[in-house]
Amino acid sequence: MSPDSDLSTKVLPTHVAIIMDGNGRWAKKRFMPRLEGHRQGAKSVRRAVEFCRRNGIKYLTLYAFSTENWLRPESEVSGLMKLLSQFIDSELDEIHKNDIKFNIIGEADRLPTFVRNKIQAALERTSNNRTMVLTVALSYGGRQDIVSAALKVHDALMTGKLTREDISEGIFASYLNTVSLPDPDLLIRTGGEIRISNFLLWQLAYAELYFTDQLWPDFDEQSFWRAIDEFRSRQRRFGKISEQIKSPL
Ligand code: FPP
Repeated sequence: MSPDSDLSTKVLPTHVAIIMDGNGRWAKKRFMPRLEGHRQGAKSVRRAVEFCRRNGIKYLTLYAFSTENWLRPESEVSGLMKLLSQFIDSELDEIHKNDIKFNIIGEADRLPTFVRNKIQAALERTSNNRTMVLTVALSYGGRQDIVSAALKVHDALMTGKLTREDISEGIFASYLNTVSLPDPDLLIRTGGEIRISNFLLWQLAYAELYFTDQLWPDFDEQSFWRAIDEFRSRQRRFGKISEQIKSPL
């Protein structure tokens, strides 16, 4: 136990972001097609949403498809798109019933029309929900998000909507895809890799990072609690020293 453990974070994270890795390996270990791993991964998504809702974690952001994932074999890309659309079909009633707002970040215009239409309907139907926000990152890349924000800031400067003196971290962040979300407190990555892979690069600046070898389809409630317990055991100083941080208890 660290000497600072009495000051550690005892509260739950407000915003958890997850890199859901390991679906392919889960399937390979069972001599199944990769898409079966993604199907099981979608079941884990449902479990994770339910976990957050039940435990009062207000924001859950899931990396479902990166800008780099377009380079995967066409059959896997189209399988993933169908899975997303089926997920919305099968889960939307439950999501809405539980007062969860559905949200997406990423380049929605690159998605096939049938997925875009489903997403649009889900966004509209759940837009007034307040208990929780489920954000799915689709065709998302952290660097692309930053470049696109920089271009928007440039346009705002050119049209006089902003002046040079207006530019601050807060203003810049308001041009990112995640404008409506607080920064994640906890990033979980399953599947054994210890990297961020272009996910929420700006937004993860002060997040606690948690990596597990568990493959995403195996990530269950107990696994989620392990990540939360690890988060609670850490002290978040945001660049300050221990004495400046008040214990939340
Ligand atoms: C990474 O595992 C996972 C993905 C690229 C897709 C994630 C998709 C889902 C969990 C299912 C659908 C999502 C929603 C929101 C319903 P990988 O394929 O890279 O695994 P590997 O590293 O073992 O090959």
